Amino acid sequence: MKVLVVGGAGYIGSVAARALRDAGHDVVVYDNLSTGHEEALSRGSVFVRGDIADAQRLEETFRVHQFDAVMHFAGLIQAGESMRLPGLYFANNVVYVITLLNLMLKHSVMNFVFSSSAAVYGNPDRIPIDESAPTCPTNPYGESKLIVERLLKWYGSQCGLNYASLRYFNAAGATDDLGEEHNPETHLIPLTINSVLGMGPDLTIYGTDYPTPDGTCIRDYIHVLDLADAHILALEKVFSGESITCNLGNGTGFSVKEVIDMVGRVSGKPVPVVEGPRRHGDPAVLVASSDKAKEVLGWRPKRTDLEEIVESAWRWKSSHPNGFRK
Ligand SMILES: NC(=O)c1ccc[n+]([C@@H]2O[C@H](COP(=O)([O-])OP(=O)(O)OC[C@H]3O[C@@H](n4cnc5c(N)ncnc54)[C@H](O)[C@@H]3O)[C@@H](O)[C@H]2O)c1
Repeated sequence: MKVLVVGGAGYIGSVAARALRDAGHDVVVYDNLSTGHEEALSRGSVFVRGDIADAQRLEETFRVHQFDAVMHFAGLIQAGESMRLPGLYFANNVVYVITLLNLMLKHSVMNFVFSSSAAVYGNPDRIPIDESAPTCPTNPYGESKLIVERLLKWYGSQCGLNYASLRYFNAAGATDDLGEEHNPETHLIPLTINSVLGMGPDLTIYGTDYPTPDGTCIRDYIHVLDLADAHILALEKVFSGESITCNLGNGTGFSVKEVIDMVGRVSGKPVPVVEGPRRHGDPAVLVASSDKAKEVLGWRPKRTDLEEIVESAWRWKSSHPNGFRK
């Protein structure tokens, strides 16, 4: 299959692009490199530097290549930033996705895999969270993902688009040469590693009085390679003419303190920690049920052990202290 990977120079997209290549697919990466890295591009894939806001460049890309499917990773991802700049998030994460979807229809590309997020749920009242939970995003980032999911339903029913909306929980971990480098970094594992290496401030724990066993928030960390596996399976599903919306999570939650302790153990170094107050809007526990993905896609996350996840992230950062920069 020939697959257009939009956002394939980013953290998750680069690992998925590699998995697609390894599975024998032809890959064209389309990315504006706003947060992605040219060094993360999958060997053997074609790269088009462009913005999905640029309908002309995107159209040209569809004209040159005959795609069978599109995977979309090109989202802005910071929930906090989206509260300050909602318009930026709705433009990038919704409006430009419509540009992309309309071009897909124009060029008869009817298979779409979309990076959605656990943020569509907001603060759920039931754990583990399954897909029947109410969707009540608490920030424009989550809302932008939910709007696209709703649009996809209509593109499916009215235009015949086959789609998979994959609601990731916290993507984590690395391969030997592809890892997480966001700027600014907001994710717990790389933040903790950076503070151990003296490459960032001491790690702040936001709240130690949550109703959890050690008082810190519990989250669901899913290895980026397990996410990539799910994308390959989702591609097969949409290609067979079916659509799906499902969670992708580890199934087990880990507390902030458990993650910090694990980084300390794996690195053999103390983690400099500061305890701060709770952050407004942080739920105590967010853990996914991934039963639907297991049942419908036949997906099994294989790297669910916290040690394995942290170890892979530590290995990548230790061998790439400057990230993708030389
Ligand atoms: N990282 C997570 O834990 C997580 C969790 C849930 C959902 N997601 C979703 O997964 C997707 C990928 O996340 P990530 O962590 O890899 O982010 P990332 O920032 O590393 O990757 C995004 C990529 O998209 C590109 N991009 C952004 N806007 C673009 C545009 N307008 N035109 C062309 N390219 C553009 C960036 O340059 C980058 O390469 C996002 O949609 C995000 O919302 C991520």
